[in-house]
Amino acid sequence: MYNLLIINTIQFEQKIFPPENFYAQFWEMKEKGNVGRTAFTKALLAWNKQENRREMPWKGERDPYKIWLSEIILQQTRVEQGWAYYERFVSRFPDVVALANAADTDIFKLWEGLGYYSRCKNLIATARFIAGECGGVFPDSYAGLLALKGVGPYTAAAIASFAYHLPHAVVDGNVFRVLSRYFGIHTPIDDHTGKQTFTTLAQSLLPHKQPAAYNQAIMDFGATRCKPRLPDCKTCPLRRECWAFAHQATALLPIKEKKLLRKTRWFDYLLISDGHQTLVRKRPGGDIWENLFEFVLLETEPSPASAPDIRPALKQLFGRTPFQLVQQSGVYQQQLTHQTIHGRFFRINVKEMLILKDYEALPTEKLVKLAFPKFITHYLTDKKLTLNLL
Ligand code: ADE
Repeated sequence: MYNLLIINTIQFEQKIFPPENFYAQFWEMKEKGNVGRTAFTKALLAWNKQENRREMPWKGERDPYKIWLSEIILQQTRVEQGWAYYERFVSRFPDVVALANAADTDIFKLWEGLGYYSRCKNLIATARFIAGECGGVFPDSYAGLLALKGVGPYTAAAIASFAYHLPHAVVDGNVFRVLSRYFGIHTPIDDHTGKQTFTTLAQSLLPHKQPAAYNQAIMDFGATRCKPRLPDCKTCPLRRECWAFAHQATALLPIKEKKLLRKTRWFDYLLISDGHQTLVRKRPGGDIWENLFEFVLLETEPSPASAPDIRPALKQLFGRTPFQLVQQSGVYQQQLTHQTIHGRFFRINVKEMLILKDYEALPTEKLVKLAFPKFITHYLTDKKLTLNLL
C-alpha cells in the first residue's frame, strides 16, 4: 500500500508498512487475554514511577469538580498556560456550587484569553445543572459524566479514572501519538475508523487496577517524552519495542488525512471615546467570540496586497459628526483553529458620542470588568493601555 505524505512541504512517496511486527503481536496477545500486562503497559508504568517528574496542581486530585475544571481548561490550552487559570478558578470558586452561583460576566472574565467561549458556556451550564439537579454532587459513572454538557469521551474517561478509579482509557492527541508510534499504526487518526481503532487499543492496554496512574502516565509520556517534534528516542525507555523507532518513522506518525482549511478575515477596530465613555458591544452568536465584548468593528474583505483604506468607512460612519483620529496601530494577528484574524486599532476622539446600532457607550472605567477577545487584550497590553485610561 502506498500513501502520499506531506512533511514540511517536501512531498515524497512513503511506503506504508503493514504493521506486521508489533501490532500483530499485540493482537495475538489481546486474543490470549493478557494484553493489560503487555510490555507497553509495564514499561509505561515503570517510566511513570521512576522518571516522570511532571508536576501539575491537579495531579493526584480526587475531587471530580477540580478534575473536571482542569480538563475543561486543558481542552483549551497547554498545561503551562492552563495552570494559572486553574488556580484562579479554584481559589475563586472552590466548589461547583460556588461556580454555579457566580454571575456569567465574572466567569467569562476569568475565562478571558482561553478562547472558544462555547466551552465556557457549557462549563456554566454544567455547573448549574450539577448544583441545581444533582444536589451539587458530580455523577460517579462514565455514562453519567458523558451526559454532561461539554464532556466528551476523553474528559469523561479522565474524570472517571482520576476521581473514581474506573477503568476508562483516555484517548487524546498524546495517546494517538504514543500508540501510533509504538505499535506502528498507520490508520489515520482523524476519521471514525481511526478513532475506534485507537480507542479499542487504548482500552485494552489499560491496567484495571491502576487506571488513574496509567492515564496520567500516557498523557505525561506523550507531552514530555514522545513529543510531536524531535522526540529524544535514544534515551527512551520504550524504544526497544517501539515500531517507529525501529523504522525511523517518528516524524511520520500519527497520520492525519484531512487538511485544515483556514479562512482569513480583516477586523479594524475603532476605539471611539468622548473622554468619559467608550462604544462597545457584546458580540452576537453564530460567529467567533460569541458573548465577548468588542469596540466598533469594521470588517472588510482582506486583500493579499495591502491593508484596507479606512477613510471612506470613517466618512460614512461619522457623516457630519466631527471626530479626531489620534492613533493608529500596526497590524495585529490572531490564529484561531479555522480562521486567521488580521486587523488594526484606531483611537478616535469625539466631542459628542455617536449613536450606533447595537453599540452602547459605557463609562470607560467599567470596561475592565468585561471579557474581550485575545485579539483586543493583546493590543491593549501592548500599548500599555489600561482600559480606564482610554
Ligand atoms: N491534558 C489534558 N488533561 C491532562 C492532564 N490531566 N494532565 C496533563 N495533560 C493533560
